[in-house]
Amino acid sequence: MSLLKEPDYGTPASTRAGTVAIEIDGLPATVRAGSTIMRAARESGVDVPKLCATDSLKPFGSCRLCLVEIEGRKGYPASCTTPVEPGMKIRTQTPALAKLRRNVMELYISDHPLDCLTCSANGDCELQDMAGAVGLREVRYGFDGSNHLFEAIDESNPYFTFDPTKCIVCSRCVRACDEVQGTFALTIEGRGFNSKVSASMGETFLDSECVSCGACIQACPTATLMEKSIIDNGQPEHSVLTTCAYCGVGCSFKAEMKGDQVVRMTPYKDGQANHGHSCVKGRFAWGYSTHRERVLDPLIRESIHDPWRKVSWDEAIQYSAKRFKEIQAKYGRKAVGGITSSRCTNEEVFIVQKLVRAAFGNNNVDTCARVCHSPTGYGLKQTLGTSAGTQPFDSVMDADVIVVIGANPTEAHPVFASQMKRRLREGAKLIVVDPRKIGLVRSPRVKADYHLPLLPGTNVPMINAFAHVVVTEGLVDEAYVAERCDTEAFAAWKEFILRPENSPEAVSKITGVPAEDIRSAARLYGEAENGAIYYGLGVTEHSQGSTMVMGMANLAMATGNIGYSGRGVNPLRGQNNVQGSCDMGSFPHELAGYRPVSDDAVRGSFEQVWGVTLDPEPGYRIPNMFDAAIAGQYKGMYVQGEDLAQSDPNTKHVEAALGSLECLVVQDLFLNETAKFAHVFLPGTSFLEKDGTFINAERRINRVRPVMKPRQGKAEWAITQELAQALGYPMNYASEAQIMDEIAKLTPTFSGVSFKFLDEVGSVQWPCNEKAPMGTPIMHIDNFVRGKGLFIETAYVPTDERTSRKFPLILTTGRTLSQYNVGAQTRRTENVIWYHEDLLEIHPSDAELRGIRTGDRVSLSSRKGDITLEAIITERVPPGVVYTTFHDPETGANVVTTEYSDWATNCPEYKVTAVQVTPAVHRSEWQHQFEERMKEQGRILETT
Ligand code: SF4
Ligand code: SF4
Ligand code: SF4
Ligand code: FES
Repeated sequence: MSLLKEPDYGTPASTRAGTVAIEIDGLPATVRAGSTIMRAARESGVDVPKLCATDSLKPFGSCRLCLVEIEGRKGYPASCTTPVEPGMKIRTQTPALAKLRRNVMELYISDHPLDCLTCSANGDCELQDMAGAVGLREVRYGFDGSNHLFEAIDESNPYFTFDPTKCIVCSRCVRACDEVQGTFALTIEGRGFNSKVSASMGETFLDSECVSCGACIQACPTATLMEKSIIDNGQPEHSVLTTCAYCGVGCSFKAEMKGDQVVRMTPYKDGQANHGHSCVKGRFAWGYSTHRERVLDPLIRESIHDPWRKVSWDEAIQYSAKRFKEIQAKYGRKAVGGITSSRCTNEEVFIVQKLVRAAFGNNNVDTCARVCHSPTGYGLKQTLGTSAGTQPFDSVMDADVIVVIGANPTEAHPVFASQMKRRLREGAKLIVVDPRKIGLVRSPRVKADYHLPLLPGTNVPMINAFAHVVVTEGLVDEAYVAERCDTEAFAAWKEFILRPENSPEAVSKITGVPAEDIRSAARLYGEAENGAIYYGLGVTEHSQGSTMVMGMANLAMATGNIGYSGRGVNPLRGQNNVQGSCDMGSFPHELAGYRPVSDDAVRGSFEQVWGVTLDPEPGYRIPNMFDAAIAGQYKGMYVQGEDLAQSDPNTKHVEAALGSLECLVVQDLFLNETAKFAHVFLPGTSFLEKDGTFINAERRINRVRPVMKPRQGKAEWAITQELAQALGYPMNYASEAQIMDEIAKLTPTFSGVSFKFLDEVGSVQWPCNEKAPMGTPIMHIDNFVRGKGLFIETAYVPTDERTSRKFPLILTTGRTLSQYNVGAQTRRTENVIWYHEDLLEIHPSDAELRGIRTGDRVSLSSRKGDITLEAIITERVPPGVVYTTFHDPETGANVVTTEYSDWATNCPEYKVTAVQVTPAVHRSEWQHQFEERMKEQGRILETT
């Protein structure tokens, strides 16, 4: 699917209802009321010249190139700022207009370098196009007057350059940064002829507030802001539509190509999750796919102490199958299992879980969602009936009060954060519930109405206090509850929530947040016409993660905030396909579509298509796999694209489990931390080589299309299929599309989905079936999926992880914008310029007490282990709380996290660890070991 240049209508589409009849250049046209003349003309097939207008930005009216004549009106109004009116007769081409436009262009060109032929934008420059469109033949003002032709180029950003000599000061970049991205990093400095674009306070782009989202580059009509990859490689020749492989926003991109080389990733304007916007990761950080450290040959070794041996695909697959079969013969059918990956496509995930169930003959399959959003699946299923978020991202534009709990959208879901900030700038209210002062608490033109900096681990009493206020202050939507919810359960819940221990005053003592702030924030949400809750891992990764998810669902139901645009309970999913990997049946107790493996009818439908008898017993979850491995009962594992050794908590325990396996098969791009314990390494593919689908946080099924052949010679689903065949279970898919057809056949919520359908409609939100052929943007519209919404009591049970004299601080963890998860991809890109190692944030008072300054190396120790890292002193964290990220294996943040986990789903409690911080005397044992491993990996890469 190639679409190199998308049409630009000059101004955004009108949102007004109705049409008006007008006449353009003598021809009748019917256009949407409220359209600008420019938009109406373009939609009617008439191009009006323009420079300062583009359809992603509000009209500005500065360049005066788009002038038109309107019958009965004096002068020459700008078509980009003048709305159509019924009966208007417009002329876009007259001799007077042509003369005016040529004059404008002459002025621009007289201060522009005449190097079009060698310019990197040649062929993709609106200034060049407009000079042609207005018929510019001469420049009467000459080129010798004052000009800007010798200003220095800013090349500080690793991904793009700013060449002020080519700037026409149209302000499109400034407006894109303000309106689309919401960072306000650019200004126009000076006046008249001396005006120029400036990043922050005259800093370089790298030193400025810029977050490298690329919106300004996208908007720039000249070569002033230009991707370095285009300067180096030239303009693209064709493009392929695909989906970002980083976070759960699921942005659509055009992979712009020269032959089989990607030269640029451009956000797709019709992408329904991102509407043409992007963040630094999806836009620029794709270089890891061709990084020299990618392993392209299968490797095997008898023992993890042996050197790796490069082998053929056939040998690696036969060897893996033989060892798995030997283990099952010796230790029993349940001694092996597999892990699916939230970074792989649905099709790749589906057949890994099928391999486990049908070829291994057990249900020992789990996925990395276990360690992030499994409580979402559980909590929303119990209360509402579906393990997924309730709204599309666009719904936020109808929200009046937005509650962000335990999520940091500007860092972890940046494109959605930009949309949310747009709504906040329009006047929506914001409540942030988070121990840290995240970016949303105060950013340009956005300020939270309430920031409730609660102590990590106290989400449940906080949500209970919100509900207490709603009930005691008469803010329950009684009619909604009576009509839509289980009223008996509601009555019991109401009685529970009215207990004094749930009052803001009582909860204030637990959370550390003043009661009045809790009360006022709860009132604000309770009184909202449209109240929307967005949450992240700061909710789920707790020992009461599932309780908190149910608490939010309770609150939303009590206030009638589910089933309408602008409302809802919305998990912000971390990885690109975490929703999909769960939907595909990756949990040990559920087949695709969250249907119990213990249900005879459900299992029967799969058995019929798969031609095997399936085990009705749920299998091991990841933590059970580790425990069973250490106990000597679990001996073999097939891991698809997850670095368990780095991402799972309590690293020493994980390493002990992995080290006791007799056959570990790792399928990944790089020799990661888990591969240290592997016997077989099967090279995987990057998203640029995959054909399939991802599902984002709003249940949107997006197509992923290959732009190049698998670099290691085999599609990942084909690897799994061959392994299944070698294990004695036949799989005979000829393509990814056939796998999706089987998913659709076996999963009622996907029955309307196929590659052909997705290629026709772009994307669709499940459920997509005969009842909802075009998908379901908003869930639970008339009824809850489970029938009546179920209120569940959410009593607070404090975590067993407690601070003490020895470990007096609480460590909580999170993400940063430029890095992604365990950093395997982003650490292999230029993004390291912004964040090259994990830092420990510590409050000034805690730092002073310990004699720690910013930049010092400190030791971070918990009951589980210790690591060293660099400290940064900041008031972003409150006293008593420290914070770090987990992007760097060398830091080993999970060496210190504990084995505590969510009571319902075993999601680890990453967000609460009692720790001590002291100035570091030595490097930690972990870091010594890591260095040794890196040396070994260097040797491996040299030999493979
Ligand atoms: S950098 Fe580009 S978009 Fe910005 S003012 Fe200059 S020409 Fe316009
Ligand atoms: S890249 Fe994004 S954040 Fe940076 S200046 Fe451009 S629009 Fe603003
Ligand atoms: S917001 Fe997420 S999906 Fe979109 S470009 Fe950034 S990382 Fe990719
Ligand atoms: S495009 Fe209308 S004034 Fe610039």
